[in-house]
Amino acid sequence: MEKKQIQKMIDLAIEQLSFAYAPYSGFQVGAALLTKEGKMYTGCNIENAAYSPTNCAERTAFFKAVSEGERQFQAICIVGGKNGVLTDYTAPCGVCRQVMMEFCNPDSFQIILAKDRETYKIFSLRELLPMGFGPDNLA
Ligand code: THU
Repeated sequence: MEKKQIQKMIDLAIEQLSFAYAPYSGFQVGAALLTKEGKMYTGCNIENAAYSPTNCAERTAFFKAVSEGERQFQAICIVGGKNGVLTDYTAPCGVCRQVMMEFCNPDSFQIILAKDRETYKIFSLRELLPMGFGPDNLA
C-alpha cells in the first residue's frame, strides 16, 4: 500500500476517536476500513451499561460496510488509547479478528496499527490469527 493511502486511513481512524462512546473504560478506539474498490468505512467503539453489548471500533466499521453490501476488503487501520491519547498500538481483540476472518483473505488483508501518521506497523490477518477458522472450513 502507498504511504499516502495509509496516512489517509490513519487520519480517518483518528477522526473517529471523537465519536467513540466509551463512558465506562474511557478507552477510545477509531477504525478505518478500506474496500478492495477503494471505498472507506469508519467506526468507533460503542460501549454499554450492561458491558457485553459493547461493540469494538473494528466491528462497527465492518458491520457498517457489510450492511451496505460490501464484501471485499483490503485493509483496516486501528488507533486507540485512554481518553483518546495514542500512547501505544491498539491491536484488534479476538472477536474482531474472527469477524475479519469471515470476510477477508488472511494472507492479503492488512491490519495497520498506528500511533500517529508516521508511526505504524502492518500485519496480515494470518499473522494476528494463525490457523483461523473461516468460511473455507465449512465448504
Ligand atoms: N476496543 C476496541 O474498540 N477495539 C479494540 O481493538 C480493542 C478494544 C474497545 C472495546 C471497549 O470499548 C474498550 O476498547 C476497552 O476494551
